[in-house]
Amino acid sequence: MSKSMLSVCGSLLCLFPTSIGQQDSLAGDYLHHAIMGFVKHLGSCSYIGLCRPTSFRMALGKLWSLLWILPLIHGFRVELHVHLDGAIGSDILFEICRARGLQLPGIGVPRSAEEVQHFVERSSSWHRFDAVNEIIGGDLASIRLAAEAFVAFQAKSGVLYTEVRYDPVRLARSQLQNASTTEEEAVRAVQEGLAVGAASHGVSVYQILCAMRGKSPKQCFEMAQLALKLQSKEMGGVVGLDLAGDETDFPNAAYVDCMRYAKDSGLNTTVHSGEFNTTQSKDVHSAVFLMRADRVGHGYAAVQDAQLVHELRRRQIHLEACPKSALRHGAWALRAIHSFKEHQLLFGLNTDDPSLFFCNTSAAADEAIVSDYLNFTVKDIQAAYASAYKARFGGRDLTQLLV
Ligand SMILES: *[C@@H]1O[C@H](CO)[C@@H](O)[C@H](O)[C@H]1NC(C)=O
Ligand SMILES: *[C@@H]1O[C@H](CO)[C@@H](O)[C@H](O)[C@H]1NC(C)=O
Ligand SMILES: *[C@@H]1O[C@H](CO)[C@@H](O)[C@H](O)[C@H]1NC(C)=O
Ligand SMILES: *[C@@H]1O[C@H](CO)[C@@H](O)[C@H](O)[C@H]1NC(C)=O
Ligand SMILES: *[C@@H]1O[C@H](CO)[C@@H](O)[C@H](O)[C@H]1NC(C)=O
Repeated sequence: MSKSMLSVCGSLLCLFPTSIGQQDSLAGDYLHHAIMGFVKHLGSCSYIGLCRPTSFRMALGKLWSLLWILPLIHGFRVELHVHLDGAIGSDILFEICRARGLQLPGIGVPRSAEEVQHFVERSSSWHRFDAVNEIIGGDLASIRLAAEAFVAFQAKSGVLYTEVRYDPVRLARSQLQNASTTEEEAVRAVQEGLAVGAASHGVSVYQILCAMRGKSPKQCFEMAQLALKLQSKEMGGVVGLDLAGDETDFPNAAYVDCMRYAKDSGLNTTVHSGEFNTTQSKDVHSAVFLMRADRVGHGYAAVQDAQLVHELRRRQIHLEACPKSALRHGAWALRAIHSFKEHQLLFGLNTDDPSLFFCNTSAAADEAIVSDYLNFTVKDIQAAYASAYKARFGGRDLTQLLV
């Protein structure tokens, strides 16, 4: 690393040290990201500690207009599409089992993370989410712990901004212990855990509540109302609503009114659509045009329709692509991510369900997939993260302050 780079790092840290860890300081999240990006990028910086706090404001004014570029130059990971129950590893589940004294069927109180892993893996793919929720759900301390552990996992993966999603209804109960909380309490517990994790790891994190396909439209409205009630700009707060679940058997039609209501009421929304080989471009079309979703989860089927692709580009709709997850759906889905790039659509890279039970992936592994299979360059990958950062629902947008 060059000496001048070090001194840039040094002066930046001198200018803004007070922003680290203070989410509500002047420039908020953005500055925080820029600094954490620098610290990560450069390793340790010996210039910290030599600063004099007097010139902060003056220098801040000058550098203000440059700030938005910093995260892009130094590239850090941004993840918008990751499921909480798909991201908790067996070690954390084991810890929670022990803390709760949970008896797993056929196992009893587990004696190792491997036993917990066997318990979860006994269920078939879709039901594994239930198994995980049985362990973390219905108990506020366990929910907090899981949320905090999630942030630690993201920090370890180099993800500095993230939005995590889950179904509060499912998280609010556990039949293993006959325990339950209200959905609102569950969401607040997630927020608390995320906030603690954010403070200790220097990661910005917000949450998105999932309405589930297969539930009634009325239940979707209830989830939208819960999200509206708990909507918050605080660290860990609720910033949007998602529609998730089985798209094949429960297509968009029944949920259009609900998702549109959520959007019209001031929530940011994203909709899982066009993810499976059973879906078609019309599913992505209705998510964007009827539900008016801000972002689309996956969206692979969209590439079947040139007119839709054109509209997605024109409207700057961000697609939450998930490489490893796509690969599991088949080569067609991964090829779709390649088409996103070819057609200059806005999209990000996400792990979806990184834990061993599901996608068994990481941000780095997903980058390797797009670079190995789709010839993505480092620049392409950074562009994807920059796009995701722009499409985020949480945090302040400094670029708006500039104009
Ligand atoms: C939970 O409740 C069910 C039905 O009420 C009962 O059969 C079961 O033994 C209970 N489990 C625990 C762990 O208390
Ligand atoms: C669609 O995907 C499912 C599950 O991934 C797979 O079993 C099936 O063979 C695929 N169907 C086609 C027509 O490719
Ligand atoms: C998960 O991924 C790791 C690293 O890529 C690999 O070594 C391991 O075999 C995978 N495990 C499963 C269960 O797929
Ligand atoms: C990636 O590059 C290789 C070698 O240049 C080429 O054969 C392959 O078709 C490319 N793949 C994609 C998806 O563009
Ligand atoms: C979030 O919703 C607001 C209000 O509809 C909208 O102006 C904004 O563009 C949305 N944010 C994103 C990132 O889509």
